[in-house]
Amino acid sequence: MEAADVRIVGVIGAGQMGSGIAEVVARAGIDVVVTEPTDDLLARGRARIEASTGRAVERGKLEASSRDDVLARIRMTTDVVDLGDVDVVIEAATEDREQKLAIFRALDGVVKPDAVLASNTSSIPIATLAAATSHPDQVIGLHFFNPPPVMTLIEVTPSLLTSDETIGFARSFAERLGKTTVVARDEAGFIVNRLLIPYLCAAIRLLESGFATREDIDASITLGLHHPMGPLRLADLIGLDTVLQIADVLHDEFREPAYAPPPLLRRMVAAGRLGRKSGGGFYDDH
Ligand code: CAA
Repeated sequence: MEAADVRIVGVIGAGQMGSGIAEVVARAGIDVVVTEPTDDLLARGRARIEASTGRAVERGKLEASSRDDVLARIRMTTDVVDLGDVDVVIEAATEDREQKLAIFRALDGVVKPDAVLASNTSSIPIATLAAATSHPDQVIGLHFFNPPPVMTLIEVTPSLLTSDETIGFARSFAERLGKTTVVARDEAGFIVNRLLIPYLCAAIRLLESGFATREDIDASITLGLHHPMGPLRLADLIGLDTVLQIADVLHDEFREPAYAPPPLLRRMVAAGRLGRKSGGGFYDDH
């Protein structure tokens, strides 16, 4: 299959990443079917897409009439069986290995034999997900960044089992979505999170030890390095549960202290302070 032939894309999950990915695909003129287990989760996903496309119109990135077309291209369903016609699936469920494995097993029984199955995972081995399907050569990682409509990178992550044809397809499909790709080996964290997670953990350790305030840590990076956000605000944007989960997987894979999640991060997640998605994390003013 060529990227230009893709007509319908399935997106699993309508959370922060899933809804953003569905928006990106629909803005590229491709029909999308989004799945979640409940109507309530789907309604929240649609509200996110409406807010984000509304903001894109306000910021002059999208015509108001194109916004209507984009929203009309996105169908939502609670039944994975509705993915029978899709050419590509992008799985963006919670970073939970068992949950993702169950999804890949279910997809294998539903999609067309030539469909490409992609995962937005940033830490679970693509090889593990591929091995749960009958076409492991057609399984690949497509790792988007938050917020997907704004961030232009996709990490393409083939497993040992992915065919060259699927890698080529994934790169041109990502380009059709208006993104730039890099290719990273199927090792925990790929390129971005191998660099980002130790940095975020180091910032949390500085805060935890009382070395500096959250404002001074973040200002040092925004003003001193010109990043758009400091590390604590960025951790809130990503979701502290996600940061913790990736740090745990990286630490498990490489056993390096830089990846070990600081106790404060674990305690904040235990307390339900997950960042922007829960209304508060290191900051409350999201
Ligand atoms: N659609 C299209 N464009 C949009 C948009 C939308 N829904 N919303 C905003 N934009 C555009 C704006 O038009 C603006 O573009 P210009 O600069 O060309 O005008 C740009 O995006 C910035 O928007 P705003 O000015 O409204 O917002 P901001 O300046 O407060 O920036 C931000 C918000 C984009 C999130 C910025 O702070 C940023 O880039 N932060 C860092 C984000 C980051 O690092 N993400 C990666 C996280 S890691 C990850 O996701 C992977 C993982 O596995 C953990």
